[in-house]
Amino acid sequence: MSGGAGFLGSHLCEQLLAKGQHVLCVDNFFTGTRRNIEHLLDHKRFELLRHDVTHPLFVEVDEIFNLACPASPIHYKKDPVQTTKTSVIGAINMLGLAKRLKIKVLQTSTSEVYGDPSVHPQPESYWGNVNPIGPRSCYDEGKRCAETLFFDYHRQHRLRIKVARIFNTYGPHMRPDDGRVVSNFIVQALSGKPITIYGDGSQTRSFCFVDDLVDGLIRLMDSPDEVAGPVNLGNPGEFTMKQLAAEVLRLTGSSSPMEYRPLPADDPRQRQPDIGLAKKLLGWEPKIPLAQGLVSTVDYFARLQRT
Ligand SMILES: NC(=O)c1ccc[n+]([C@@H]2O[C@H](COP(=O)([O-])OP(=O)(O)OC[C@H]3O[C@@H](n4cnc5c(N)ncnc54)[C@H](O)[C@@H]3O)[C@@H](O)[C@H]2O)c1
Repeated sequence: MSGGAGFLGSHLCEQLLAKGQHVLCVDNFFTGTRRNIEHLLDHKRFELLRHDVTHPLFVEVDEIFNLACPASPIHYKKDPVQTTKTSVIGAINMLGLAKRLKIKVLQTSTSEVYGDPSVHPQPESYWGNVNPIGPRSCYDEGKRCAETLFFDYHRQHRLRIKVARIFNTYGPHMRPDDGRVVSNFIVQALSGKPITIYGDGSQTRSFCFVDDLVDGLIRLMDSPDEVAGPVNLGNPGEFTMKQLAAEVLRLTGSSSPMEYRPLPADDPRQRQPDIGLAKKLLGWEPKIPLAQGLVSTVDYFARLQRT
């Protein structure tokens, strides 16, 4: 697995080990940390390899989960050229490895391939509305190009591929400094700082708990060969930013005030997955409600603050 020391990757490592599989975790620690996988280092079926996926990799494995790529705007905008390289050259290297070994390869794509969507909720058939030259394009277009490469290897070399389009996911091992709304609100609440809400807080988002998401990725990998995707994975339940803030305040017992700031120009009013295909092809849908997933997430950030 590439990107195994990151937020999603570390949970996927755990789940694969729990299923009895061997895991080779490949990561260059650009956004991931050793802390996320420290508890796995002594596991006899776990191996860690420090490697940058923009360079070719020659190892023997049975399947590849390709997760390597910074996922939050703060981190992927820091070095946009490296972000595109990681998505595109990283995909080429993982696809080349899968081709040589004749094995399955799964790409973690993103809802960002839909850009600023004009269709709600977004089905996989929607082609998206993406700016090719903006500050977010390194991520959005990098991921779109990676999808193109996956489908060309599939058509041209008959490679078995799986493409997941992941929507907003949250849970333990998120970084406190990644600027995403769930981690932001929790960190602000725990440190007694004002909770910053952009606009009037009535815009909605959908959040999937990491355990549900990882279950979807494993189901997709284990699905029949003809299931290549792309398949949306996310939680369609919608919450306003105000509702999320209220829930975080309740769970942390914090008395942080809410602070309203102007809405950024490119802030979408709504983003919500259509998961009909995942239900049909994988028998998958998220099971963990926001209030439940937030409990372990708050607990994680509280522990992190104490250490
Ligand atoms: N978390 C989400 O809500 C979400 C949503 C959509 C898509 N995704 C995708 O899922 C994947 C994992 O996301 P995440 O949230 O765990 O992000 P993350 O930043 O926590 O994890 C990415 C991992 O990839 C590693 N990495 C980055 N560049 C690398 C390189 N060149 N070589 C080797 N390793 C490299 C990082 O060190 C990190 O461990 C990403 O591809 C992301 O685009 C995540």
